[in-house]
Amino acid sequence: MTASNRIVLSSDHSAIALRQAIGGHVAALGWVVVDIGPTTAESTDYPAHGEAAARRVASGDCRFGIILCGTGQGIMMAANKVKGVRCGVCADTFSARMIRQHNDANMLSIGARVVGEGLALDIVEAFLTAPFDGGRHAPRVAMIGALDG
Ligand code: RB5
Repeated sequence: MTASNRIVLSSDHSAIALRQAIGGHVAALGWVVVDIGPTTAESTDYPAHGEAAARRVASGDCRFGIILCGTGQGIMMAANKVKGVRCGVCADTFSARMIRQHNDANMLSIGARVVGEGLALDIVEAFLTAPFDGGRHAPRVAMIGALDG
């Protein structure tokens, strides 16, 4: 089994519609979407959803993760507690490219109450298409990993 074309999606209750729109877009780009919910608008706890998605990435089941909550901040904080995960919140395409190129981010977080659907889809595409630059950035990323735990 290869994780190279699998991407996990999760959110809290505040971001279900945007998460589903992102899922459709990402699938159209050729990714296998692993949407782990939730599916109802009932209030739910973003740390649990951030952790669940992060574990799919950290375990190697999925190459990337995209997570959402109202601001993108809380769910990002939870995901970054999982060893091996590097997740950034992005509300612009430049940052989405840079967290791949310089930080080798494996997860992207978006605030559903911050960005509209059109920009969110552009952010996702920027994140998924930018390669890690390596070179001088590699030891810095390794330093982040050394801080885990
Ligand atoms: C939920 O109301 C909200 O707190 C959550 O979606 C997120 O913004 C937390 O960081």
